[in-house]
Amino acid sequence: MLYETVTRDSVHHLVHEFYAIVLKDDVLGPYFTNSLGSDLENGKWHEHLHTLDDFWLLMMIGKPGYKGDPFPPHAFLGPIYKETFEQWLKLFKETTTKYFIPSIADKFYKKADIIAEQFIENLGLNDDDDDD
Ligand code: HEM
Repeated sequence: MLYETVTRDSVHHLVHEFYAIVLKDDVLGPYFTNSLGSDLENGKWHEHLHTLDDFWLLMMIGKPGYKGDPFPPHAFLGPIYKETFEQWLKLFKETTTKYFIPSIADKFYKKADIIAEQFIENLGLNDDDDDD
């Protein structure tokens, strides 16, 4: 059964599953193990997952809670490429589609795509930035 509404439970389910997949991914896994360790049940991960639940509840239904600034941690992840973000988006799309009805999965993806583009821009990872 696909979720038809965005609630704390459905978002948490998505977030938990997404990071379990990310952690096992050859490209993305190392960025997360470096910052948060490899055990999704540890304290740092617990905090990260909670932050991400709040973040997506704000993005998707405007629920107050997330008060952070999503970009800064991404400026200190070591060498990172446009392809790294594309891999993140690919896995995010697969996971949202697995859990939510298409209209909601689409909305998750569109929001993520806009934010990922901003990160790529802020990090100067666009191909056409090279010649400036
Ligand atoms: C290449 C892709 C990405 C990588 C490797 C990555 C990695 C990380 C890592 C390691 C952290 C935790 C930093 C820490 O607490 O030590 C983090 C935090 C976070 N990420 Fe990403 N991320 C990626 C893309 C994205 C995208 C596309 C979004 C949004 C759609 C996003 C949203 C967030 C948010 C909201 C936080 C928490 C920020 C806070 O502490 O307030 N990330 N990310």
